[in-house]
Amino acid sequence: MFDKESYLASINEACSYISSRFDMTGTDTCIVLGSGLGPFTDLVKCVNKISYADIPGFPTTTVIGHSGELILADIEGKKVILLSGRFHYYEGNDMSVCTFYVRVLSKLGIKNLILTNAAGGMLDGMEPSDLMVVTDHISLFCESPLRGPNLDEFGARFIDQSFVYDKDRIALLKATAEKLGIKLHEGVYCYTKGPQYETPAEIRLIKNLGGGAVGMSTVPEAIVASHCGMKVTAVSCITNLAAGISKTALNHEEVLANAAKASTNSCKLVYEFIKQL
Ligand code: HPA
Repeated sequence: MFDKESYLASINEACSYISSRFDMTGTDTCIVLGSGLGPFTDLVKCVNKISYADIPGFPTTTVIGHSGELILADIEGKKVILLSGRFHYYEGNDMSVCTFYVRVLSKLGIKNLILTNAAGGMLDGMEPSDLMVVTDHISLFCESPLRGPNLDEFGARFIDQSFVYDKDRIALLKATAEKLGIKLHEGVYCYTKGPQYETPAEIRLIKNLGGGAVGMSTVPEAIVASHCGMKVTAVSCITNLAAGISKTALNHEEVLANAAKASTNSCKLVYEFIKQL
């Protein structure tokens, strides 16, 4: 359990450091670059970047392929924050650590959070390297990132979760995909703690609960972002068919290879989407 006073002090310290390095004026959008979105940094003009290790209180990431940088980027005149690397519960982080960056960004004025991730797919017609817009999530199997003392300066104790993923943004993302000729599924993302992939029995359960994709990130951040009053949009890259639906055993190399295969489409989709915000 985190200590409220020292947690808030760490948030303030991280904010002061970032504002001393970046001019955040007019910057209200952040994109978290999940697996497959790495090349997104090549599409944008990098104005400035900070290594996570330099930000006081910021955790560091242990996942290979996530570089651990906060980037201030310019997308055709629009300044956005890119996060290359996020913090997972399966790495041993407490939920307060996994979601620390969301609260820091909220304090810095970020209102739109775009979360991208790799996920196992279970909807009919899904194929590896397809994309899915997240319409809702299932977080029943994880500890809430809002557990513990409520941070009243961010949001209320008991918050509604009926519209975590902004409906207008979902519609905009779907329209953008259609315009670009990119196949886009829509469905419910089910969060699992990992790091082991699910068993076929777990996937049958999740599918019966209405899950469309399953993954080990995004939901803690989306919950905290909704607590902070942000508009959240999430896109999953279906890197594999979920356990038991796939005829073969799952492995991380397959996940990375299919994320890379999907990256042209996922980067293009997110880029065009942001331009319209
Ligand atoms: N399950 C959980 N997380 C994942 C998967 C999966 O099948 N694929 C990519 N991340």
